Amino acid sequence: MRWSKSLSAGAAVAAVAALVTALLLLWCEDAGQGTGSSSMAETATLPKLREDFRMQNKSVFILGASGETGRVLLKEILEQSLFSKVTIIGRRKLTFDEEAYKNVNQEVVDFEKLDDYASAFQGHDVGFCCLGTTRARAGAEGFVRVDRDYVLKSAELAKAGGCKHFNLQSSKGADKSSSFLYLQVKGEVEDRVEELKFDRYSIFRPGVLLCDRQESRPTEWLVRKFFGCLPASWANEHSVPVVTVCRAMLNNAVRPSDKKREVVDNTAIHSLGKADGS
Ligand SMILES: NC(=O)c1ccc[n+]([C@@H]2O[C@H](COP(=O)([O-])OP(=O)(O)OC[C@H]3O[C@@H](n4cnc5c(N)ncnc54)[C@H](OP(=O)(O)O)[C@@H]3O)[C@@H](O)[C@H]2O)c1
Repeated sequence: MRWSKSLSAGAAVAAVAALVTALLLLWCEDAGQGTGSSSMAETATLPKLREDFRMQNKSVFILGASGETGRVLLKEILEQSLFSKVTIIGRRKLTFDEEAYKNVNQEVVDFEKLDDYASAFQGHDVGFCCLGTTRARAGAEGFVRVDRDYVLKSAELAKAGGCKHFNLQSSKGADKSSSFLYLQVKGEVEDRVEELKFDRYSIFRPGVLLCDRQESRPTEWLVRKFFGCLPASWANEHSVPVVTVCRAMLNNAVRPSDKKREVVDNTAIHSLGKADGS
């Protein structure tokens, strides 16, 4: 009797062990088939996609090139030599010491009178909008003015100027019915830009941007420190390095797509941005 009890206990332990092993194997297989193998597929095709893209001699503009995302995006664009003409549109002239920037065109505009600067938005095939401010910096009204009105007016002028592919840096959680002003404005501007009917419209929704911000933003600094203490998988769900966002934008832009609108969320940004193993 005691012998048969210990036999059944042993069988139960063995069954649990087998189940755990099977689950582990399944998990490993899943992990292999997930981002890992798709990244390998991307690795094989990205250089070719970039080469094909370069051959098309496209022109690009960046809004917000003085900001954390915009300046990394500009650097990546120049390093990858993806476009035959690069223009940055901003409210002030930027100075660059490096040789690589010598052919960058600059358009200095007054965002309160954008209609007077329509020519700055003419003739670009692709546009990236990394414009934005914070409520703490500009007040609620100022925030809406920049993150909604300036973005929307710029998109309108870009569309009128012939831009085919518009890329908007929005935010994780963007939702026009949110009770948080930030997320609500991000959601509203996403939808209103869509109404302009670009041939291709890509929305990027990153979580907290990880960067060494030049401007002091104590709350953002604290949040970044907090994410730094979390296990990588949790942190990756809610935050992303700026350089990964920029690479995701470019890796996406070089891939032909027949989708009119695509939303790239934080998880997709991570895999797209690291698609060539960088
Ligand atoms: N911070 C985050 O963790 C986070 C997370 C998700 C999404 N986002 C969104 O991602 C976008 C880019 O963020 P970021 O942190 O890279 O931006 P950033 O460093 O704050 O840079 C913002 C850009 O917008 C321009 N800008 C701000 N106020 C302006 C005004 N009144 N008139 C004209 N231009 C103005 C800035 O120009 P100047 O240099 O001349 O001021 C700068 O080029 C924003 O829309 C932001 O909401 C941010």
